[in-house]
Amino acid sequence: MESGQICWRRPSSSREREYYYCQPLHANPHGAVLAAERRPAVLDAVAAAGAFLIEDDFVRDLTIEGHPPPPLIAADANGHVVYIRSLTKPAAPGLRVAALAARGAAHARLRAIRLVEDFFVAGPLQETALELVAAPSWPRHLRQVRQALRERRDTLAAAVRDSVGTQSLPSVPTGGFHLWVSLPMRIDDVVLAEQALRSDVLVTAGRHWFPAEAPPRFCSCPTPARIPPPSPEVSIVSRNSEASPSH
Ligand SMILES: Cc1ncc(COP(=O)(O)O)c(C=O)c1O
Repeated sequence: MESGQICWRRPSSSREREYYYCQPLHANPHGAVLAAERRPAVLDAVAAAGAFLIEDDFVRDLTIEGHPPPPLIAADANGHVVYIRSLTKPAAPGLRVAALAARGAAHARLRAIRLVEDFFVAGPLQETALELVAAPSWPRHLRQVRQALRERRDTLAAAVRDSVGTQSLPSVPTGGFHLWVSLPMRIDDVVLAEQALRSDVLVTAGRHWFPAEAPPRFCSCPTPARIPPPSPEVSIVSRNSEASPSH
């Protein structure tokens, strides 16, 4: 599976530019990665349109298999990419520190906006973030996070395949913390999510990811910290296998 276009924002006046929002690495919810051969084409299309590409690199630190490709901004010779990445996923949700990178005019304007609006991130928070990523234990922490995610992903993938069938997982993500599960037609994604929640299992109905009519049913499952045997996901999906569609 591959990731690409998420959305174009068309300008509402001639003074505005077009924006293209993209998650090239482990896109939410399916975890797909933009194919190597399409990366230059995406950058060229954005430059040719005089547009900006907003690169949301939200789980770069959560790559499970191999090494992630460099961010698209690394090959952006024309200053058309605005890059966003935060520390919350590999560190803690409360550590609200993000990086915004751009070149040329985009960089100058974004910097000016941040300066006027909030005088940048608070100093103590910046110091905390710096100490964290510069600590000798940071690389070890990242390795441990990846190992834990790999175990959770594999355990949940096996449970989903056992209960829903091998065709339920069109692809197993190489990073991130979700599985994108293709449900049999008899299972309604919203009913499944509601019933799972009543058993303290977090499943998100897949239809919310489709701006128009949703195709065959999907759901997104965050890989859980612990699946006690027999796994709740297995029993939830099995128990709900006759869940009737809500409409
Ligand atoms: C695609 C995507 N981008 C950005 C974010 C925001 O990340 P954070 O606020 O943790 O930096 C999320 C959160 O899950 C996300 O799914």
